[in-house]
Amino acid sequence: MLSTSPLLTIQVNGFLGLSHIVCTADPSNLEQVLRSKFSNYVKGFRFQSVLSELLGNGIFNVDGELWFTQRKIASHEFTTNSLKYFVSDTVQSQLSIRLIPYISSTCNNQEVIDIQDVLRRFTFDNICNVAFGVDPASLDSEDNDNTFLSSSFVDAFDNAVEISSSRLVSPLQLIWKIKRLLNIGSEKQLKEAVKIINDYAMKIIRSKEQSCGNKDEMEQEGKDSTSTALTWFFWLISGHSRCERLIYNELSAASPDKSSGIFSYDKLKELNYLHAALSESLRLFPPIPINSRLTLSDDTLSTGTYVGKGWFADYSAYAMGRMERLWGADCREFRPERWLDDNGVFQPCDPFKFPVFHCGPRMCLGKEMAYVQMKSIAAAIMYEFEVVAVDGGGLPERIASPPYVLSVVLKMKGGLPVRLKRR
Ligand code: HEM
Repeated sequence: MLSTSPLLTIQVNGFLGLSHIVCTADPSNLEQVLRSKFSNYVKGFRFQSVLSELLGNGIFNVDGELWFTQRKIASHEFTTNSLKYFVSDTVQSQLSIRLIPYISSTCNNQEVIDIQDVLRRFTFDNICNVAFGVDPASLDSEDNDNTFLSSSFVDAFDNAVEISSSRLVSPLQLIWKIKRLLNIGSEKQLKEAVKIINDYAMKIIRSKEQSCGNKDEMEQEGKDSTSTALTWFFWLISGHSRCERLIYNELSAASPDKSSGIFSYDKLKELNYLHAALSESLRLFPPIPINSRLTLSDDTLSTGTYVGKGWFADYSAYAMGRMERLWGADCREFRPERWLDDNGVFQPCDPFKFPVFHCGPRMCLGKEMAYVQMKSIAAAIMYEFEVVAVDGGGLPERIASPPYVLSVVLKMKGGLPVRLKRR
């Protein structure tokens, strides 16, 4: 609907006209909502009530002073170069002691693995190492208390996200509120999942004998987005052998000792084609496909569209990434070259045209960290193995109707079963 609208903007009225949503895919409207009139468009009560059990009063879920203070504190952790080095060091050691040996053994046994699940557990372990200095070892196959607890945590977190997302899309908000009051069905499951999450977080905090502030919430958001982004990336790469070969050639040329695909932070920065391929994958499969803001007072968007007080102003990074008027006639093709200049150097694009990491004052704080992590993982795996999706992968003809689950995070339906082939 958005792509056929002349202004790339539509208005949808909710049940019995009780709510109004303006959904836009126009970059100049987005600039207005997310930057120039930032204080008029807030997360608001819908986000807060729906996600309160999961996110509490953390940075993702609040507005105004409460958000500003947390953003100021959190930004110190992300802007320093030392964090980037720390991340790359942590990721690298985890890759060599955990992920690559695990993948290697499944390759030797010719096993089919669900790489979506493997990446989800690995990025969780990674992030706990960086944030709290603990190693949950959720990817370990050995049965021990630690692994069991962390696996339950990862599963509980996924359940909680799914149930909270279903609240957001529920046509009648009253239904989930009644279920919560009666403690039945999905609301009962949510309560149980949140208890597992809180118990696990408290266990970590006690073991570190310090308060971790809102780090757990922040890191969890990051874990899910990064593992989801990588899952779609491997699916696309598996269906595009030409791009796969170009990434491998780039890795081979940059590999320092030809014996490992573990790259330093500086070497990762040189991997332009891989950076372009990841960005292209994010364009087609943004981990957070749709986002919403509540309008505080009447406004007119730059395309002339009226937005009333109390209306929702939404944008879909998923729809925008597939918009011919923004990306050209080949918008549904996976073509990493669109991100490169004539010398093969990566060229970032206007963030309001590519709002995958959001834009303006609330832009994702972990963007750089996410790219470093995704590049490290993709490079380490692809240098040694070819990832072969059992379903044939994201072939060009499958990009238009991909197997996704609609939730806050754009997950692959049923996971991504793959075989690893040693090079
Ligand atoms: C591919 C990976 C990632 C994607 C696509 C992504 C995307 C986003 C998006 C769309 C938002 C805006 C949410 C909203 O306000 O509605 C956001 C916010 C945020 N992200 Fe990420 N993210 C990623 C990875 C990470 C990582 C690894 C971290 C940190 C460990 C992180 C930390 C944050 C924080 C702290 C915010 C809140 C910013 C604020 O409200 O001021 N993200 N991210």
